[in-house]
Amino acid sequence: MSQNGVNTGRRRFLIGATSAIGAVGVVGVATPFVASWNPSAKAKAAGAPVKADISKLEPGQQVIVEWRGQPVWVVRRTQQNISDLTKLDEKLADPESTVNQQPTYAQNEFRAIKPEFSVLLGICTHLGCSPTYRPEVAPEDLGKEWLGGFLCPCHGSRFDLAGRVYKGVPAPTNLVVPPHRFISEDIIEVGVDAEEVV
Ligand code: FES
Repeated sequence: MSQNGVNTGRRRFLIGATSAIGAVGVVGVATPFVASWNPSAKAKAAGAPVKADISKLEPGQQVIVEWRGQPVWVVRRTQQNISDLTKLDEKLADPESTVNQQPTYAQNEFRAIKPEFSVLLGICTHLGCSPTYRPEVAPEDLGKEWLGGFLCPCHGSRFDLAGRVYKGVPAPTNLVVPPHRFISEDIIEVGVDAEEVV
């Protein structure tokens, strides 16, 4: 990714995160940053793993963790979200995640270690903007068939709640699932691979 691409994505990430926090009362979806437990700025720049406490994340909520200067989203999907993922295949460009955008332990129908938790690098695979979390079902601007997902504000690419890209949008591939693991039920660590699931 070019230097410009990184800067643009970073700016949009910060702007988007600020807006999301400001909108909590309106849309009822909290998008808090996890500021604690992070290593020093120097260590983070070098790519040190970061931990996040997800114990208070309610179904339908998203938390953003910063890793390597980029946003990583953790979304706790509802049971409805999980069952809806199976309905979208014909609308998606790569529903089975054949392109190498995820670790092997997340190459499954949920693109996740646990179906309940989606962990995604919040950078659009088109030109690096940071898409917006849009969990609503059938909002006016996205149409009746929208079942929740992510919308890129730059050129309109759409992704489902597993980060799978829709057909016919500028983004060429699914969002990246970064290396991550669950240290416990409540703690997730981004930047370290889980044990391979056999
Ligand atoms: S950067 Fe996301 S659609 Fe272009």
